[in-house]
Amino acid sequence: MPEDINISTVRDSFRESLASAKSLQELDEIRVKFTGKKGTLTQLLRSLGKLPPEIRKSTGQELNTLRDEIEQSLELTGKKIRDTENENQEFSQRIDVTLPSKGRKSGAFHPVLQTMHEIADIMQGLGYSVASGPEIEEDYYNFECLNVPAWHPARDMQDTFYFPDGTLLRTHTSPVQIRSMLKYGAPLRIVCPGKVYRRDNDTTHSPMFNQMEGLLVDKNVPFSVMKGTMSEMLNAFFGKSLRYRFRASYFPFTEPSMELDIECVECSGHNPHCRVCHGTGWLEVAGMGMVHPNVIRAGKIDPDEFNGFAFGIGLDRMAMLKYGIGDLRLLFDGNVSYFMSGFGGAESC
Ligand code: DAH
Repeated sequence: MPEDINISTVRDSFRESLASAKSLQELDEIRVKFTGKKGTLTQLLRSLGKLPPEIRKSTGQELNTLRDEIEQSLELTGKKIRDTENENQEFSQRIDVTLPSKGRKSGAFHPVLQTMHEIADIMQGLGYSVASGPEIEEDYYNFECLNVPAWHPARDMQDTFYFPDGTLLRTHTSPVQIRSMLKYGAPLRIVCPGKVYRRDNDTTHSPMFNQMEGLLVDKNVPFSVMKGTMSEMLNAFFGKSLRYRFRASYFPFTEPSMELDIECVECSGHNPHCRVCHGTGWLEVAGMGMVHPNVIRAGKIDPDEFNGFAFGIGLDRMAMLKYGIGDLRLLFDGNVSYFMSGFGGAESC
């Protein structure tokens, strides 16, 4: 046995190496170092024969014990390392079902539809129901019942799309006033949002656009209720208290008639170069008036007993004002280059 090596030194060196082994590869290196062909323990065993007979047996036993310890320890530590590696691998591959998902981009309502919902919600809060009527309408409901007979010059106000059979694409949501009175009678409070059509097509007009009709019929309805209802609805919609201006106007189905202007939502009248109000400080948002007795009568309600008011709001305009959309075409066109021309910029819609 080499003089500089004794059994306890080898044992200590083995234990120390084993304690720092982290991988199976390191473990294999330790095995080779101690029990490989040229390993320390192998050399000691080989040199046994050279020992004096009196210590050969006991040294042999000691070396065998050390070999057993080395083999068992290597096996045990190998198992531990393998278990840890498996665990780590399992952990890294585990799917944590409690993690939040990456999320998906969801769609959004079209600004006009959103506007429709918002105003309908506000009006429902004021006790109105949502009614609907056909887009392909009869001349009778679209004009005749609304105090616009065939000879009436007001028919020129609305260029109409006619079908060969005489039906037409409704030019406004006002025919739903008649249909609702005929269906529900009085008292009545309805709003009717929907598409309407006119032979108009330029940068500020689309042949299809959206309106919201409103009708209240009851006994002794004062003019002030109409004004209050409109300001209530507009303040709720725009989320701020605006100034209003009622201008005398003319509609065949109301008397008196007026148009409603709101203070410019963009500049409140302070910017003479405002792109929204063009410096006027006012924006026209609705036509309205006290329902003409002829219209109430067409709805099979007695105008001596009931009166009321009606209004028509341009929903596209309301959406543009609320959401800062500067170009009407943005609402109906898929052309993304228009997105750069809105007064609120690309993010606004
Ligand atoms: N129907 C009208 C239009 O399309 C808008 C309107 C004005 C509706 C006055 C009404 C009203 O109910 O009272 O221009």
